[in-house]
Amino acid sequence: MSFKDGFRAPPLKRIRVGIVGIGRRGDCAVKRLIKIPDVEVTALSDVEDFRLAEGNDALANAGKPPAETYLGADSYLRLADSPNVDVVYITAPWPVHAPAAVAAMERGKHAAVEVPCAMTVEDCWRLVETAERTKRHLIPLENCCYGDEELFALNLCRSGVLGELVHGEGAYIHNLAAENFAEVDGCKYFTALRGSWDRWRLKWNAVHDGNPYPTHGLAPICKYMDVNGSDRLDYVVSVSSRQAGITAFAARQFGASSPEAMDTYRLGDVNTSIFKTAKGRTIMIQHAVSSPRPYSRINLISGTKGILSGYPLKVALLPDSDKWLQETELAELRKQYEHPFVKESWELAKKVGGHGGMDFLMDLRWTACLKNGEPMDSTVYDAATWSCLTELSEKSVAAGSIPVKVPDFIR
Ligand SMILES: NC(=O)c1ccc[n+]([C@@H]2O[C@H](COP(=O)([O-])OP(=O)(O)OC[C@H]3O[C@@H](n4cnc5c(N)ncnc54)[C@H](O)[C@@H]3O)[C@@H](O)[C@H]2O)c1
Repeated sequence: MSFKDGFRAPPLKRIRVGIVGIGRRGDCAVKRLIKIPDVEVTALSDVEDFRLAEGNDALANAGKPPAETYLGADSYLRLADSPNVDVVYITAPWPVHAPAAVAAMERGKHAAVEVPCAMTVEDCWRLVETAERTKRHLIPLENCCYGDEELFALNLCRSGVLGELVHGEGAYIHNLAAENFAEVDGCKYFTALRGSWDRWRLKWNAVHDGNPYPTHGLAPICKYMDVNGSDRLDYVVSVSSRQAGITAFAARQFGASSPEAMDTYRLGDVNTSIFKTAKGRTIMIQHAVSSPRPYSRINLISGTKGILSGYPLKVALLPDSDKWLQETELAELRKQYEHPFVKESWELAKKVGGHGGMDFLMDLRWTACLKNGEPMDSTVYDAATWSCLTELSEKSVAAGSIPVKVPDFIR
C-alpha cells in the first residue's frame, strides 16, 4: 500500500525515540514524550555536550533510564544506526532536517521532523522518494494542526458549516528580534531569553528572502481545504517588504555603529505569498518575525456560508453574516463542533502543555497511529507541500513576484 492510499506500518507495541537536537524544542520533546505510555526516549544527539547532559538530566528527574548519547554534527547518522531506536525525532536547526530525516529512513527508522521538514524543493523530493522507497513514515511535526481552534475550524469545514470553501489566510507573525540575538547560555543581553544555537535563525534570515517558515499558517488551511486529497496547490506568487526591523532593533539594542546594526539582512520584514489551488481557491500566507506587533497565525477560512477568523477567534454565518456571533453563540457552536481529539485529550494535553497543549496532542496522535499500525494524519506529501514554499517564495520574490508552480509531490 502506498502513502496515497493510507500506508500503514506494522504496529509497534512500544516506541523507542531518538531525538536529534536537544535545544529549546528538543528538551521540551524529551519531557513530553516520556509522559506517553509505551514511549521511551532511548537516544540523544547534539553538537554540544551540555545539551546531551541536560536531556539525560530530564530523563533522570522523571525516573527514566539514561539515553544513548551521540555527539557531533553528523551524529544523527550513528543515532539512526542504533538498534534501540524506532523513530528519529528531529528538532535541530532547519538545515539538519532533511539530511537527518533521509538518513533515518534509509536506516529503517521512521522520521518525525520539525517544520519546515526541508528547506529546498530538491530536499522535499528527496523526502518523498526516500519515504516511498523505504516505506517509512515521514511525520511532519506541525503542532498547529492540533490547536483547539484549528481543530474546531477543521470540524466546521468538514461538516459543511462554512459552505464551499473559497479563501484562507494563515501566518507566522512573531516578533523574534530579541530572541534572534540572545545567547544560548545565560543570555548576555537578554537575561530572560534563552537564545538559539549559533544564532542559526538569524544567520538563515541574513542570506535568504521570502518565507522561510511557512507551515504554521499554511498547514491548517491545507487541512481545511483537503489539499493533497480533493484539491492541490497549483501556483504561488510572493512579495517581500523591505528589511528594516532587524536593523532598527539592533541599532536600538547595540548602537547604530555596532556590527549587529551594520550587518546585512536579506529577509524582508513582511513576506506575503498567495496560492491558487487547482479548484480555484486562494490562500494568503504571511511571515513577519521582526516587526513590533502581537503574535498571530491569522487562521482565517472563508466559504459560501460563513467565515472563521482567529486572533481572537470569531465566526460569522448566514443568514446574519454581517456580524460576528455573540460570545454565547460562539461557545455553543464550539461545543457542538468540538473535534473528537479535543474532546478526548485536550484536558490532559493542556496539563502537559507545549504551546497550550497542541504539542502534546500532536505527539499523542502520531504515537497512537504508530502503535496501532494506522495511517498518519499527515504524510510525507503534506510535509513536502507545506515546506516547499521556503524556496518557492524566495524564487518568486527574486524574479519580481512571478507565479511559480507548486510541485505535485503526489504525482
Ligand atoms: N513547532 C513549533 O512550534 C516550533 C517551535 C520552536 C522551534 N521549532 C523548530 O524546532 C527546531 C529547533 O529550534 P530550537 O528553537 O529548539 O533551536 P535551538 O537552537 O534552541 O536548538 C537546536 C539544537 O540543535 C543542536 N544542533 C545543532 N546542529 C546540530 C546537528 N547537526 N545535529 C544535532 N544537533 C544539532 C544545537 O546544539 C541545539 O541544542 C527548528 O527547526 C525550529 O523551527 C518549532
